[in-house]
Amino acid sequence: MIIAIDGPSAAGKGTLAKRLAAHFDLAHLDSGSLYRAVALKMLRVGQDPADEDLALAAAQTLRPDELADPALREEATGKAASIVAAMAPVRRALLDFQRAFARTPPGGKSGAVIDGRDIGTVVCPDATVKLFVTASDEVRARRRSEELQGGGGIAIYARVLQDMRERDARDSQRSVAPLVAADDAIVLDTSDLDADAVFAAALEYINRKIG
Ligand code: DC
Repeated sequence: MIIAIDGPSAAGKGTLAKRLAAHFDLAHLDSGSLYRAVALKMLRVGQDPADEDLALAAAQTLRPDELADPALREEATGKAASIVAAMAPVRRALLDFQRAFARTPPGGKSGAVIDGRDIGTVVCPDATVKLFVTASDEVRARRRSEELQGGGGIAIYARVLQDMRERDARDSQRSVAPLVAADDAIVLDTSDLDADAVFAAALEYINRKIG
């Protein structure tokens, strides 16, 4: 069973993916961490994330242990990640890893939950279930600023909103694998829902679909 979850940043994909993976005993891959890891690797050695050749080299030499670095979650990493994620060669280099994860989930699991931007459209077009999780810009920016403040960062709502819109525009308007709901995805708007309600709605849909 493959559950593909796509959507913009801070819409609640990650939380939902983790809960669904635990519920159905599936492996979980946050595909954004791959793009973040490529970006972080470049930033650490002072490279410009806009340099496509260097970005490709960073993607080709990515190791699994680089996906667990806490600095992956930093805003600067996220911003650089959306730059390398717009590059076709980088996406190609990361595609095999994601497909292999779906085909042979680690830990002997019988399937996987993968969240990202192009999982239902490009990475796993034959996924058992496709969810497109979204929320209004304002709600997502509020959630993200609360998250950053909780983590001790200095987050200013207006700046978070602006950064998020810029990043979403880059993710949605790029020519390769843009953020878009698959035709056969169900859209879950989480603007007025808490994490429990999102999980319940997703579970009901999935159980009906696989029933
Ligand atoms: O979901 P996130 O914020 O961790 O993603 C980081 C960046 O990577 C973001 O700009 C979107 C991009 N991304 C992508 O292009 N395709 C994916 N499957 C996952 C993330």
